Amino acid sequence: MKRHQVDAATGRRINEVERSVTLAIGSGSHAVTYAHRTAQGRLFELPLSWYSRDHGYAMSPGYDRADHFDFRREISESCLFCHSNGRTPEPIGCERCHGSSAAHRDRPRRGNILNTRSLDICLQCHLETSSSRFLDSLRLPGREVFSYRPGEPLGDYKVHFAPPAGSDDRFEINSAGYRLLQSRCYRESKGAMTCVTCHDPHSARVKSVSCRQCHAKPHTETDCAPCHMPQRITADAIHVSMTDHRIERRLTFVNPEREDHAPYTGPLVTFFTHADPMALERANTLDPTVDALRRFLAASPNDTSLRIALGRALIRAGRPNEAVAALEKTSDSAGRTYLAVAYAVQGETRRALGILTEVLAENPDHALAWINLGITQEALGKKADAIAAYERAILIQPDASEARRRLHALRQAR
Ligand code: HEC
Ligand code: HEC
Ligand code: HEC
Ligand code: HEC
Ligand code: HEC
Ligand code: HEC
Repeated sequence: MKRHQVDAATGRRINEVERSVTLAIGSGSHAVTYAHRTAQGRLFELPLSWYSRDHGYAMSPGYDRADHFDFRREISESCLFCHSNGRTPEPIGCERCHGSSAAHRDRPRRGNILNTRSLDICLQCHLETSSSRFLDSLRLPGREVFSYRPGEPLGDYKVHFAPPAGSDDRFEINSAGYRLLQSRCYRESKGAMTCVTCHDPHSARVKSVSCRQCHAKPHTETDCAPCHMPQRITADAIHVSMTDHRIERRLTFVNPEREDHAPYTGPLVTFFTHADPMALERANTLDPTVDALRRFLAASPNDTSLRIALGRALIRAGRPNEAVAALEKTSDSAGRTYLAVAYAVQGETRRALGILTEVLAENPDHALAWINLGITQEALGKKADAIAAYERAILIQPDASEARRRLHALRQAR
């Protein structure tokens, strides 16, 4: 896959980037998204996907906006948790739903074999209250991404957040679980309704008798889904239609093409699972203070995104030596990039340079690291190296305004 820009002055192609497709995600029943694996083994989502509804290519889910991720959206472990059997991409295997049966085979007794009809088994991947508008869920402290074991309550692994009941009608791509849990059918059938009530778990197909299990004398003999579970265009991936699982009496439609992408800033409550007060406070704090971040991190010391947020907040607050202490413990590219910034603002330029060079060896597409490398090299008086670094940042991220501004200033000064 290739992208370029056209230079307004000369009409020539500039900032051309080409990435090979090494992996396809999605069965193709709705969409196939492509990914590129870098020489260092990192996976990046590519901006074009194939859509079955239109029989053609269009922007990938979440890329229907001007400030999209371009070639820079890393496919993290958390994407692979739902889209793959394990850390390396491969189809979902039996044990993701059935768990290991070894214990029961060795010592057959109650309680050590799984009830696979449990809703939580499907919800480990099919519950997403939002793909990007707010903090949708949090893993419990100490739980690694791939540590969920089928059979355990989902709430022992992660907690979910959502706007208060009845206040959220945005329809998104992975909404089956979230919408079904809001339906009267689910809420008023006292645990009798799970995904397997309607779906065959192995073929995913819908069993024809599913509504009549509970609505023995329906008001019509025709297929129920077109009226009560209609297909709707999703707001986060506008080339995809999905089935609305909220099973309503009368439907209210929202036009996804006219929906704004502004983040939801209203209150969040705990959904399906039970969040403790600190988790709820985290979800509801949009711009946490240094003190709040320190408290959150003390409770979840392995949470990389919290650690990075604390480091950034400390740099912003003019406390770079404390930022160093917080960020030294991370091996994440973004975290190490801020560590370099924390050193640089204290005048330890060579140390910053060393860290940024390491980050870029491991992750050459990290635009922010190139920008910071340029700034560091400027500080060391290496103008040519700084120019090369800014050009590299712009190649990867053409809208990197900081790099453009600095490059322009350097060229003027020459
Ligand atoms: C909580 C589990 C979960 C996570 C995390 C998740 N996805 Fe998905 N995603 C799904 C499910 C389930 C679907 C299919 C939704 C449906 O058919 O209702 C889906 C659909 C998609 C699709 C549309 C293509 C298709 O398969 O129909 C793309 C592309 C996609 N996800 C990419 C990603 C990327 C990239 C990430 C990480 C940033 C990610 N997903 C994270 C569960 C997840
Ligand atoms: C390990 C994660 C995971 C688990 C567990 C899981 N799913 Fe899925 N499921 C997905 C993803 C990802 C997709 C999107 C498929 C794609 O396009 O690749 C999907 C797709 C589906 C589809 C749509 C298939 C199609 O062809 O459109 C159905 C129906 C479905 N799942 C039902 C279930 C049910 C029922 C369960 C529980 C018994 C379940 N899933 C458990 C990840 C999972
Ligand atoms: C997406 C989750 C999921 C995956 C993956 C899965 N199963 Fe199942 N399986 C279930 C559920 C749920 C049931 C219970 C169905 C019911 O009670 O209606 C089940 C039932 C079964 C049964 C009982 C008989 C039947 O068909 O109802 C067998 C045998 C079985 N699975 C074998 C397998 C094997 C072998 C694999 C791997 C090739 C596998 N399953 C993968 C969810 C899954
Ligand atoms: C596990 C049992 C169960 C299944 C399966 C089930 N329902 Fe329901 N449904 C209920 C219960 C319980 C209610 C609430 C009491 C009532 O209205 O009967 C309900 C309510 C409804 C309502 C009224 C919703 C509202 O907002 O007032 C509609 C419409 C409906 N169901 C349609 C369906 C359709 C269509 C299907 C199949 C796609 C289905 N149901 C499958 C149990 C079920
Ligand atoms: C009351 C019946 C019913 C229940 C319960 C149900 N589904 Fe569905 N599901 C449907 C129907 C109807 C479709 C439409 C596709 C079809 O007819 O094959 C569908 C389609 C899907 C699809 C395909 C993508 C889409 O949106 O069209 C996914 C994924 C899915 N269901 C996941 C789930 C999961 C996960 C659960 C449990 C949280 C669940 N469903 C519970 C009836 C049901
Ligand atoms: C042509 C569209 C259509 C089809 C097909 C349809 N329904 Fe309905 N259904 C409606 C409408 C409209 C209402 C609301 C009536 C009202 O609120 O006055 C409704 C109401 C309901 C209700 C709640 C009211 C009540 O009667 O208790 C249930 C339950 C229900 N439908 C189940 C079903 C089932 C099960 C099927 C499939 C066998 C089905 N519907 C097929 C349009 C449809």
